[in-house]
Order: sequence, then structure tokens, then C-alpha cells
Amino acid sequence: MVAAVRVHKTGGPEVLTYEDISVPAPGPGQIKVKNHASGVNFIDTYFRSGMYPSPVGLPFVSGNEGAGEVIAVGPGVSDIKVGDRVGYVSALGAYAAERVLPADRAVKLSEKISYEQAAGMMLKGMTVEYLLRRTYKVQKGDNVLIHAAAGGIGLIACQWAKYLGANVIGTVGSKDKAELAKKNGAHHTILYRDEDFVAKVKEITSGKLCDVVYDGIGKTTFPASLDCLRPLGYFVSFGSASGQIEAFNINILQTKGSLFATRPTLNNYVAKRDDLVATAADLFKVVGSGAVKIPINQKYPLKDAAKAHKEMEGRDTTGSTILMP
Ligand SMILES: NC(=O)c1ccc[n+]([C@@H]2O[C@H](COP(=O)([O-])OP(=O)(O)OC[C@H]3O[C@@H](n4cnc5c(N)ncnc54)[C@H](OP(=O)(O)O)[C@@H]3O)[C@@H](O)[C@H]2O)c1
Repeated sequence: MVAAVRVHKTGGPEVLTYEDISVPAPGPGQIKVKNHASGVNFIDTYFRSGMYPSPVGLPFVSGNEGAGEVIAVGPGVSDIKVGDRVGYVSALGAYAAERVLPADRAVKLSEKISYEQAAGMMLKGMTVEYLLRRTYKVQKGDNVLIHAAAGGIGLIACQWAKYLGANVIGTVGSKDKAELAKKNGAHHTILYRDEDFVAKVKEITSGKLCDVVYDGIGKTTFPASLDCLRPLGYFVSFGSASGQIEAFNINILQTKGSLFATRPTLNNYVAKRDDLVATAADLFKVVGSGAVKIPINQKYPLKDAAKAHKEMEGRDTTGSTILMP
């Protein structure tokens, strides 16, 4: 039996239950990992609350990101062996001392990457990779708006966008967060709870507006995010921290300047093994070179997963959050 955090019925952070579970031996194509750290992500709250249905029903072990040591491999696994250090993104099961997952969802970690660093970046860092390099390819000189710039995704995105040569504008919920976002690459910050962020974007860009808006907030920043875009700009709606955007008339994209809009998710961008490996390699390269750092600003014992969720939903966290088994 090993320690894990399970959800037996969906709801608030209090439904996260710390208990012992038994973990089976890995089946064909699977590996068993002893987790050294697990990442906490906003998506974990969507599964916990029931906004996203659990693909494995109830109860389920929470968590989608982690890193650890391979302690067993199932039949047919040839490229990963016992003793390998791996990081992974895999739907549910990460908030546990040990877990089984498909071998093709794990990538080997070099000695230079710590387990904690990997647990803080596999999901968030690969998301930033595809958002900035593939959904819309950020170019030198682009005006880029990143909402929740001091968050887990936000701090990585600000650093990476700056590294690509963009003019980075970040929205944040407090003055402390503004300072942090600036230390991590944002050239300009906007206190979007107090200030009109559209007017500020107009002012900062001298009316040119943004080439792309990366919006993980959803309900409360829509449709204002569209007004931050230049004609033919890209609205990348990648999350719903404030709730989901309600149905809208697609003609709004025409009236606001022939805009492009997409609602991407990491799963689709790394569905093929080759894409997962290439995305992780791109991430490891910028982290290895020091161009992008992974700020792990909250670290809790596994048993305190509910506290971690409460603080994340209460907007009290910055950067990455990890749980230690
Ligand atoms: N599509 C994908 O592939 C993908 C992958 C990973 C994450 N995501 C999405 O990316 C977003 C950020 O994820 P994360 O894990 O890095 O979380 P996070 O940014 O660390 O935390 C969420 C932040 O959103 C802001 N926020 C604004 N309104 C909020 C509200 N009503 N309730 C709570 N927070 C609110 C808060 O920052 P302020 O106080 O500064 O406003 C808060 O700190 C989430 O929407 C997540 O679902 C998408």
C-alpha cells in the first residue's frame, strides 16, 4: 500500500482524501514509477470539481504531472528501464507515492534536471512550448499579452516570450505579482482587477495592439481580450481559471478585425510520441541553457493537497506548486 490523494465524489478541495491505495504491477506497455514529486495544476481543480469528467470514473487519484524513478516495467517496454529517472504528463494518478502509467507518456530526465524541477514543469512548460512555438509562433518584436502572468504557466510564458524577443505584457492580480512577473520577463504589467486592461494595452502598444493574447482566465477576460488584438491577431483561449467562456456568435471575430481564435489543449499537441519527445526536448533546452527558470514557489507534503488547491483557487499561489510524497 502507498499514500495517495483520491477523489471519491467531486466537489471543493475538501473532497481530496489522503489515504493508502494499492498500486498494481505495470501491464503491457506500462511502467511503474516511484514519484519523487508531483505537480499541482489548475486542471487538477477542474477534475476535482467535476467540470472535467474523470476518464476513469470515481474514485480517482488526482494529479496529471510528476517525476520519479522507474521501479518496474511491463511487457513490451524497451526504451525505458528500471532505475531510469523520468518526468511525465498523464491524465490522473500523479498525487501518489507510486503510480502506473503508459511508458510512451514518460520522458527520460538528464541528471541536470531535478525531480522537483521536472514535476514543476512537465505539464506547464510543455504547454508554454506549444502555445508560443506552435499555436501562434511568437516572433521577435511581437506584442504578446499573457494573462495571469505570475501564475505557473504565466512565469514560464513570460520568460520564454521575452527570450523569443517579444514585447511581453502581463496581467496580474496584485502589485506583488506584478513585481514577480517583471522579474521573470514581463516588460509591462497591468493590474487587471483594478485597471481597464484593454485601455492599458492600447497605451503600452501606442495603439498597435497585440499580435496574440494567451488567455487562461476564460469567463472574466472575455470578450475584452479580443479588443487587445490587432486585425488578424490570434486569440488563444487555453484555460478557464475564472469559469468557461459562454457560447458566443462567431461573427464577433469578424467585427473585431478578422481575428483567429483557438481553444487548444496539450493532449492534442503531444498525442504522438514523437511530438511529446520533441516538445520536452525544446523545453529541456531552454531550461538547460538558463533562458527559462522554473520557479517552484510552493512545496507541500502530499497530505496537504487540499491546502494546495485552496490556495491555487484563492489566487494565493505564484509560479509552480509541487507535492512531495
Ligand atoms: N490548454 C492547456 O493545454 C493548458 C495546460 C495547462 C494549463 N492550462 C490552463 O492555464 C491556466 C493557468 O494554469 P496554472 O496551472 O498555471 O494556474 P495559475 O496560473 O498558477 O493559477 C491561476 C491564476 O489565474 C488567475 N485567476 C484569474 N481569475 C481567477 C479566478 N476567478 N479564480 C482563480 N484564479 C483566477 C490568478 O492569478 P491573478 O491573481 O494574477 O489573477 C491565479 O493565480 C488555467 O486556466 C489552466 O487550466 C491549460
